Amino acid sequence: MHTEPPRADEHDRGALRAALADGTDDRIIYDLDGIGRQYAALRAELPGVAVRFAMKACPVDEVMEHLAALGSGFDAASPQEIAQALRTGVPPELIHYGNTIKSDRNIAEAYRLGVRDFATDSLEDVAAIAEHAPGARVFCRIATTGEGALWGLSHKFGCSPEDAVRVLDAARTAGLVPSGLSVHVGSQQMTAEAWTAAVDALAAVLEALNWRGITPTRINLGGGLPALGVLDRGGRPLDPPLDKMFVVIREGMERLRAVNTGPLEFLLEPGRHLVADHGAIRAHVSRLTSRHRLDGTREDWLYLSCGKFNGLYEMDQLQYRLEFPAHPGGQFVNAVVAGPTCDSDDAYAQDGGRVRVPRAVRSGDPVWIHSCGAYATAYATRGFNGFAPLPYTCIGGGDGRDHHGGTA
Ligand SMILES: Cc1ncc(COP(=O)(O)O)c(C=O)c1O
Repeated sequence: MHTEPPRADEHDRGALRAALADGTDDRIIYDLDGIGRQYAALRAELPGVAVRFAMKACPVDEVMEHLAALGSGFDAASPQEIAQALRTGVPPELIHYGNTIKSDRNIAEAYRLGVRDFATDSLEDVAAIAEHAPGARVFCRIATTGEGALWGLSHKFGCSPEDAVRVLDAARTAGLVPSGLSVHVGSQQMTAEAWTAAVDALAAVLEALNWRGITPTRINLGGGLPALGVLDRGGRPLDPPLDKMFVVIREGMERLRAVNTGPLEFLLEPGRHLVADHGAIRAHVSRLTSRHRLDGTREDWLYLSCGKFNGLYEMDQLQYRLEFPAHPGGQFVNAVVAGPTCDSDDAYAQDGGRVRVPRAVRSGDPVWIHSCGAYATAYATRGFNGFAPLPYTCIGGGDGRDHHGGTA
């Protein structure tokens, strides 16, 4: 974390900052207009690419309804998520079951809810889909290395190119529609090259499928597009080459269209990129302390009212920008940041990555935590040590009212 306000040129954050300033209690605030602008910017960069918001990144009804009204569909990972997505009013055709991991019961329930598009990556899963969702469309997820991402998703999901051909061949034999391929280059991907490698792999599998008489109609380019306002674990700004990423994706789509023997549609399942920079937490200082460690060195610790279990889960891999509005200047100490629970895991970057904290902060002072709109609510526990998940407020969104929710 960093004790400077976010760069003003990144986004128009005026409304979010005003809402943070108005806040008198802890909460997470989502700026629906900011999310809408982000959605529009993404659509402008990748014209014709359908968006299925990865709802796990922000399963908040108002956020989902806003995106649905703008035309987004949803990437859902369970029947419960499918049901929530349907409540926004989108038709089931705009929802796919993007989780390669599902029980027989999960598949049957998704099918009952009207979903007909399923991700897969194994013969076992294909057999189960054929039994419990007869005639459905399946897209096979190809594994990626996850290199260049803060969270590589390489081991749990996806299969080799050779397996992908076998999986879609088996799907066809089982009466399913082998409709496409998907990839995920890893979350908070920091390199454009990851998409180059993904396109290479997709092109090779398309060729092999075409050769076997299978002509996919859809390519799902997954998530992975980064947030812009976050810092690395050491507190240095992350500066992902977003423009270059879009160039590589656009060129990659052209290449895949040229390879495939039939027309191709493209989908994207962004999560973090749409919401991260348009959510912020208003928390407070629990206490700033100074203690000696066993080796005699002195260490300052900043305990916040929220931490790993109620809003800041992802700080194991990154830092958020912190702002102390009551202390814009003065002397600073470099502190370890930690959450409020009586649990040693609820602390960040103990091996480095100290945060500049105004020496004068007192218990109860407000702290603004920027660019933490992604995965904050979804990762919150029910109440570790009694610390409840943060309530949320949505601002903007067209009707002129702020929407206050319980916990998402
Ligand atoms: C299948 C799938 N799609 C999309 C996403 C969203 O990823 P991101 O937030 O990096 O865009 C995830 C995240 O884990 C995922 O598992």
